[in-house]
Amino acid sequence: MNDVYILGIESSCDDTSAAVLRNGVLLSNVTASQEVHKAYGGVVPELASRAHQQNVVPVVDQALKRAGIEKEQLSAIAFTRGPGLMGSLLVGVSFAKGMARSLGIPLIDVNHLQGHVMAHFIKESDDDHSAPPLPFICLLVSGGNSQIVKVNAYNDMQVLGQTIDDAAGEAIDKCSKVMGLGYPGGPIIDRLARQGNPHAYKFAEPHIPGLNYSFSGLKTSFLYSLREWIKDDPDFIEHHKEDLAASLEYTIVDILMKKLRLAVKQTNIKHVAVAGGVSANNGLRNAFHEHAEKYGWTIYIPKFSYTTDNAAMIGITGYYKYLDNDYCSIDKPAFSKVTF
Ligand code: KG4
Repeated sequence: MNDVYILGIESSCDDTSAAVLRNGVLLSNVTASQEVHKAYGGVVPELASRAHQQNVVPVVDQALKRAGIEKEQLSAIAFTRGPGLMGSLLVGVSFAKGMARSLGIPLIDVNHLQGHVMAHFIKESDDDHSAPPLPFICLLVSGGNSQIVKVNAYNDMQVLGQTIDDAAGEAIDKCSKVMGLGYPGGPIIDRLARQGNPHAYKFAEPHIPGLNYSFSGLKTSFLYSLREWIKDDPDFIEHHKEDLAASLEYTIVDILMKKLRLAVKQTNIKHVAVAGGVSANNGLRNAFHEHAEKYGWTIYIPKFSYTTDNAAMIGITGYYKYLDNDYCSIDKPAFSKVTF
């Protein structure tokens, strides 16, 4: 069989990324992050879309160059069709469609959330066997989603529970914004939390039945508590930012792990993975290691570079779909809403 070369393109939020894989092995993964949003404390959709337009050609170009192949060698193009910001998605979707049409090769649409889970199947070499065995449970925690997924196969994923309001990453980012820290807040909270006391402050925890999550109450509780404390000490945040970060992180990780333990108990599946931007978090990673020891879980934690948005995860999902001849027609539109 001829070598299968897949180009993956990701543009669902504020990262423009392209990756090339040969027979499911990653050759290149190039990402241009957008600094422009830092000044606004969050992603500005219109600016994100414009930045994708500037970045997509050089990023794809670089990915092909680093992979050492010509575009004519590509077997198919996989792209993120949704969910995400519509203006951002449209850039990657239109680019992928135009390029596939001009090369006369198949197009493969990828669900961004499925891509995050599939990050566990990215192979950096032929003898990379780090992927979890099927079925496994995956905690998917990103800026826009918090879900517990049962992965039966790459194309058979069952959402066991999900947030009914905000995502974990969104809650961290908003609380960080309230504290006047930069954007995105996740890595800043993570860094500060390492020097703070996780039990210094208590914030409201949700009481949601089943395997669903909720983070909006925690966000409000954090904001209201801060307002009270600032009344007594206007420099409260400055004086206590490490303890605040550590307590916030502890609460979020505790909420995430409680439901994950329940999912493991209900399914009796002890292969447990984590995916999405928040899986870069040190506190969450430590909690995974503790649970592995205490409850006998086998855990799977992706490399940092595959936790946040990247095209390698889109490429690997595309590769498996390619093997199944699961292509997409050129008229399939981008979608913004979360569906699995
Ligand atoms: O998966 P991702 O890159 O984008 C989405 O698809 O949403 O996730 C971004 C989220 C942001 O909320 C960011 O603050 C969070 O991941 N994040 C972290 C860390 N690094 C990124 N949260 C906690 N600790 C981190 N180290």
